[in-house]
Amino acid sequence: MMSFTYKGNQFFAEECAVADLAKAHGTPLFVYSKAAIEANWQQFAQHWPAPHKLCYAVKANSNLAVLNLLARLGAGFDIVSGGELARVLAAGGKAQDVVFSGVGKSHDEIAYALDQNIGCFNVESAAELERIQNIASEKGVVAPISIRVNPDVDAQTHPYIATGLKANKFGIAMTEALDVFRRGATLANLDMRGVDCHIGSQILSPKPFLDAAERMFDLITKLRGEGIQITHLDMGGGFGIPYQQEEKLEVSGYLQTLQEKAEKLGNLKLMLEPGRAIVGNAGIMVTKVEYYKPGSEKNFLLVDAGMNDLLRPSLYNAYHAIVPVERHDGVDEQLVDVVGPVCETGDFFGHARHLAAQEGDMLAVMNAGAYGFTMASNYNTRPRAAEVMVHGNTATLVREREPLASLWQGEHLLGDDA
Ligand code: LLP
Repeated sequence: MMSFTYKGNQFFAEECAVADLAKAHGTPLFVYSKAAIEANWQQFAQHWPAPHKLCYAVKANSNLAVLNLLARLGAGFDIVSGGELARVLAAGGKAQDVVFSGVGKSHDEIAYALDQNIGCFNVESAAELERIQNIASEKGVVAPISIRVNPDVDAQTHPYIATGLKANKFGIAMTEALDVFRRGATLANLDMRGVDCHIGSQILSPKPFLDAAERMFDLITKLRGEGIQITHLDMGGGFGIPYQQEEKLEVSGYLQTLQEKAEKLGNLKLMLEPGRAIVGNAGIMVTKVEYYKPGSEKNFLLVDAGMNDLLRPSLYNAYHAIVPVERHDGVDEQLVDVVGPVCETGDFFGHARHLAAQEGDMLAVMNAGAYGFTMASNYNTRPRAAEVMVHGNTATLVREREPLASLWQGEHLLGDDA
């Protein structure tokens, strides 16, 4: 299914001409395809029968319309902050379907999540275990928990998004895990239900996932041997998508293997936390060319979106395809760098691209649905972009462009005597 495609020379999001969306809502603009999100979801859901659960990683794209759509498709949610929990609830998600990951859960976040009665805390350290026990005991409740173990596998991805190596800050080392489980089993206000891991993001080969699974299943067997009754295994997210010419990761075989292993052990519910694979290719960022600036060494297309809108190229040197929203016949392509207006040399979307675009033309930056808007900032006092979701020929504004004055709302001048 092609949600973003040309019809003649015009680029379309489902049945909506992207140029019309840009005219109606301005640029920079994120455009999401409802059909693409649904199709991506089904790729997992069709191979993942109950009682197994999919918890969408909210950090990938936390727009309320996206969360609401996924809640209606039966998603659970993987959150990493009290703010994300509040968003899920505001979008109609159920607290019971939420797992709370994250290395630095604050006292207030834990208390809030307990009050909301979330499904599970994914505990990342021995200190966090004690903190959750204390807060749950003060409240007179029992906290459902899972222990995040670091399986020490190389995810073969960008070092900033690899999380499953011993050298990373995430999870508890395999060698220390048994002791933490034993300690947890003695604490009255904890219900130790699960084991979880997450080895990294944008992983394109099944091998690291299978290696990690092997280690996690071994651990569960050991724990059960000690009488610690683990009833769920959460293998995290990390499923990569092609940004360039990479081969697609086929998840069905991996999902099948997990289920076969779980059946062998018995009484084990499986969970996954996909983020990027659900929304990544379901979104584009539309930007307008402000200037064409030829130079002796390089030619630049200066566009109206910046690294504050889509940070991935600047932060990870990530590749995003860039295509014209309207193709012009007979206009020669130039070799250009596509760069933003922010005062940083690292403010770019693509180097050495072949594009035939002039001032006023629109470009679409592809695969911007995951870690696009959610990583946006107001750097250079730039309001964050608007977001629309298309469904067939209907487009809904799902987030308004930020009004400028809202950027300094809550700021205060010094008083006369200060
Ligand atoms: N679960 C946990 C515990 C995670 O830390 C993450 C992502 C996920 C699930 C979802 O991973 P996914 O399925 O989306 O790969 N900003 C980076 C990606 C950071 C991912 C952080 N953790 C990027 O733009 O590539």
